[in-house]
Amino acid sequence: MSARHSRIIGTGSYLPRRAVGNDELVRELATRGIESSDQWIVERTGIRQRHLADPGVACSQLAVEAARRALEAAGLQAADIDLIVVATSTPDYVFPSTACLVQKALDAPGGAAFDVQAVCSGFTYALAIADSMIRTGLARRALVIGAEVFSRILDWNDRGTCVLFGDGAGAVVLAADERPGVLASKLHADGRHESILRTAGNVCGGTVLGHPYLTMDGQAVFKLAVSVLDSVARETLDAAGLAADDVDWFIPHQANVRIIQATARKLRIPLEKVIVTVDRHANTSAASIPLALDVAVRDGRIRAGHHVLMEGVGGGFTWGAVLARM
Ligand code: UT7
Repeated sequence: MSARHSRIIGTGSYLPRRAVGNDELVRELATRGIESSDQWIVERTGIRQRHLADPGVACSQLAVEAARRALEAAGLQAADIDLIVVATSTPDYVFPSTACLVQKALDAPGGAAFDVQAVCSGFTYALAIADSMIRTGLARRALVIGAEVFSRILDWNDRGTCVLFGDGAGAVVLAADERPGVLASKLHADGRHESILRTAGNVCGGTVLGHPYLTMDGQAVFKLAVSVLDSVARETLDAAGLAADDVDWFIPHQANVRIIQATARKLRIPLEKVIVTVDRHANTSAASIPLALDVAVRDGRIRAGHHVLMEGVGGGFTWGAVLARM
């Protein structure tokens, strides 16, 4: 029998040990003749540091650590899980999926496992998909993970992008429940804008074809992001029959504090209700929302019964929102 609802019953996250502050990064860039400054990075983005995975550490390893913490918070074992969805654009391999590698590492065979590729919107996509699968009876207990090693696809000679991103993973356990948890989700894409943010390379005949580094038209992304984050928030609140005033905590994708503040202003959500981690984590793409969620759950801000509005936006162009009662 299918459950009427799905609920988030545990959160977890993991950051690589190595935190690199702006000054350290700026010094490193200077050794290669690339000029930047802590002041530029902070003023334009709000970013002060990012965590970077050591060479050889794969996306799935970050995902597994975050998943273990979410399982522990939920009081479940890996064997209780019958669905693993990993949102990532920096998978370990072309295939198998990172989700299958996570399932192997957790030693929990048998359930469904697959990746979702919607770049920085990936976690909202993954959460909405897992919620639908639980409500239709295809799964009962899901691990929904956002995990990235974006440092691997950055051009460290492009100051316009390399200072913006970081590595990390966040996870939730989503379980079937008679009480409402996920209240509404809305997902969108507009492929006409695919060229403003992309990593346009692939593997062919044993070599990399195209340009395997992230490129971005920052100003075009900025404008589009502020616009769609506003519209999808309103659409999701409407679908749940709630207003912006009902939101206890707002967790937008953590790309740039100016985008976060502009979106909150448009929605008339006070900044005290906005979870911000971009200063410490930088942009971790699909991992940014579950990382921020876990930080705010563990520091006691987000509590049972709170309405949390999560919003992603990124390459594709993709965007989406999930409104959940904790
Ligand atoms: O996950 C979703 C994807 N990402 C986003 O949401 C990012 C959206 N975009 C942004 O956040 C902003 O557009 C950026 C932070 C990327 C850039 O900020 P901006 O205010 O749009 O700056 P800009 O690109 O117009 O660049 C201004 C100047 C340029 O110099 P000139 O041409 O005015 O002389 C850049 O070359 O800043 C220069 N610049 C830098 N200077 C020092 C670019 N990167 C750097 C840097 N350090 N790291």
